[in-house]
Amino acid sequence: MHIDRDRLISDLETLASFSDGTPPGISRLVFAGGDQQARVWLKSQCRDAGLTVREDAVGNMFARWVGAQPQLPAIGTGSHIDAIPHSGKYDGTVGVLGGLEAIRALQQSGFTPQRSIELLLFTSEEPTRFGLGCLGSRMLSGGLKGDADARLKDSGGSTLAELRAAAGFQGSLDQVRLQDGYYAAFVELHIEQGPLLEKEGLPVGIVTSIAAPAALRIAIEGEGGHAGGVLMPDRKDAFCAAAEIVLAVEECARATGAIDTCGTIGKCHIFPGAVNSIPSRVEMDADIRDTDEQRRNRVLGEIEQACARVAAKRNLQVKVSPINADAPATCSPRIIEAMVEAAAENGLAYKKMVSRAYHDSLFMARIAPTGMVFIPCRGGVSHRPDEYSAPQEIENGVKVLAATLAKLSSLES
Ligand code: GLV
Ligand code: MN
Ligand code: MN
Repeated sequence: MHIDRDRLISDLETLASFSDGTPPGISRLVFAGGDQQARVWLKSQCRDAGLTVREDAVGNMFARWVGAQPQLPAIGTGSHIDAIPHSGKYDGTVGVLGGLEAIRALQQSGFTPQRSIELLLFTSEEPTRFGLGCLGSRMLSGGLKGDADARLKDSGGSTLAELRAAAGFQGSLDQVRLQDGYYAAFVELHIEQGPLLEKEGLPVGIVTSIAAPAALRIAIEGEGGHAGGVLMPDRKDAFCAAAEIVLAVEECARATGAIDTCGTIGKCHIFPGAVNSIPSRVEMDADIRDTDEQRRNRVLGEIEQACARVAAKRNLQVKVSPINADAPATCSPRIIEAMVEAAAENGLAYKKMVSRAYHDSLFMARIAPTGMVFIPCRGGVSHRPDEYSAPQEIENGVKVLAATLAKLSSLES
């Protein structure tokens, strides 16, 4: 089987050109200009490959290579193309374009799938716009209902209903959930987003489980006022409270003593945001994850307690609202086995590993046996403009993906 590496790298570059960000950073906010342009281009690439394209009400795209036995549950593969602000070219895109290239390589090799093979583009894996990650896959697996249409809003106050309609996606969100048994298997190719494969000189990671992500919205209500007029003993500065809470999040995550516990506050809005005005209100989102769900939940509880302590000490209001607290996922032993064989057949060494990042696979695992293939990325860097995987590494990942899809699409699988 021949992977057309040059075509794939050129596709990745083309996709990177659809960006709302300032180069070298990439940004593709779901339903905004770059995302919309990328979707149009991707659909035409899929149609050129002879795939049948459909989209659902939230904008998940399905491009199907119809198998010899189209009545059988299909094999899914894919990832996301939305990109957080100031990020790189490879997160998610390698899984989408690598999936397309795997299909094209299988087609060109003369292979006939028994089960259909379907490429997916999931809407908004990143939480940038709506505060909640894995929107599309969450809905496909029944983890989010139609009320999300009015409940989920972006920072400008536009609802999911308004934004998806403006992007051309109509219909009830209640129809997005896939019926049971729609997929016989799902496999996602992704960059590792961590340093282990590179450090160990290994070309392939075979994921055994995906860590449990959670997010909290923390809203602090203090008292604003003149930066010169209100004396220090009289203040209820919401941002000073926020600073204590940020450090408490770090401390709570570190205090488990487990390397797998992570706590981050990467988003913070200060109101009114003037240099000579005491912050009256702060809103921040905290991201808490762990491979151990119970330990993650304990940390969430400790953060809530820390917030209550800061509120009492500073005599202001702190409201903590859960955004999501998702269970971890376990990959399917049968798919792991297929990936092990696929790596061996291609002469590629591998290690089995945990994914600390979350992926659409976290939700696909709720409705189908699921597996993930990782490839190294330079320095383990991701969610940054200097994110990079070499063409050879991407090709290796596509080889393993294509061989895995071929095995899973055979009748016996
Ligand atoms: C996915 O982008 C994650 O934050 O793990
Ligand atoms: Mn990401
Ligand atoms: Mn990703």
